[in-house]
Amino acid sequence: MAIVSSGPQGQDRRGAAPAAAAPVAARGRLVDPAAAAEELQAPVLREDTLRPRRLADYIGQSELKQVLGIAVEATRARDEALDHVLLYGPPGLGKTTMALVLAEELGVRCRITSAPALERPRDIVGLLVNLQPRELLFIDEIHRLNRVAEELLYPAMEDFRLDLMVGKGSTARTRSLPIAPFTLVGATTRAGALSSPLRDRFGLIQRLEFYGLEDLQAIVLRAAGLLDVRLDGEAALEVARRCRGTPRIANRLLRRVRDVASVQGRERVTAELVHEALSLHRVDGRGLDAHDRRLLTLMLEAYGGGPVGLETLAAGLGEDPATLEAVVEPYLLQQGLLQRTPRGRLLTAAGRAHLECP
Ligand code: ADE
Repeated sequence: MAIVSSGPQGQDRRGAAPAAAAPVAARGRLVDPAAAAEELQAPVLREDTLRPRRLADYIGQSELKQVLGIAVEATRARDEALDHVLLYGPPGLGKTTMALVLAEELGVRCRITSAPALERPRDIVGLLVNLQPRELLFIDEIHRLNRVAEELLYPAMEDFRLDLMVGKGSTARTRSLPIAPFTLVGATTRAGALSSPLRDRFGLIQRLEFYGLEDLQAIVLRAAGLLDVRLDGEAALEVARRCRGTPRIANRLLRRVRDVASVQGRERVTAELVHEALSLHRVDGRGLDAHDRRLLTLMLEAYGGGPVGLETLAAGLGEDPATLEAVVEPYLLQQGLLQRTPRGRLLTAAGRAHLECP
């Protein structure tokens, strides 16, 4: 069966394939929730040093932890593969981390890949036939799987079987190949974009939520300990306030604060130092950066606060409208600084107030 003869194998945690690139204008923002290239690069995955490895170390997402903790315990007792898991929610909240934690809890390996890397049928076939019993296969951005890959996954998920086409034309037929019982962990920022046949094959479907301040503060303090940064509770809270509910951003901000502390020869990081360090990167007290403020300022100064169309705003900023909508707007909407109305975008009273007093 030529189809299984080769193909890139999914990489384990030290060689994670980078997720698809963020849109151009969004790259390089300190507050971009997508992982930056250097954060994904082998051999030292920068995020890896700070990732919790066990459920007990994973801060926040209490419902998710409870549900998955029960599933893991029950699965271990039955000595079976864990049911397939779909994790969805905004980027940077810990979907990959949770997949690695699950593997650790189950004592199995986790293969990591992303849908854009599974372009040819043999890519996914190669991964599936090489899985050992009860191993995890993590597919990031699973909503981007192509139809062929998706259809190969159906019998694989349901019956641990691959249905492969062999031969051509009138001699073409399907051959079934058994594979090891495994767990697919799918991750997506867009659960609604998944086809229902694929969604229906996941036994556990869980949403990750933005983190609250207290959890973020705890995450920052934990990361500071691991990075050997001496930082007090108030300073951790200042980082937490600026990270847009997202641990990945919190850890990135913390590294920038650490740089300033080390250059200034400061042994202890205070709230004032966090403020100073992050002001240097133009991240304000609520986690807005220059991109966000440019948008809000344009709305206020050129359009009296709106309503104004997305296309008009994008043209005024020299951004592409899709990027503005997908990357810049969500946090501003979530914070109530901006509203989407049928007549266009509207700057809220809170948005105006923030511009006066960032
Ligand atoms: N680092 C990033 N996310 C984390 C989490 N949820 N718990 C602990 N540390 C983290």
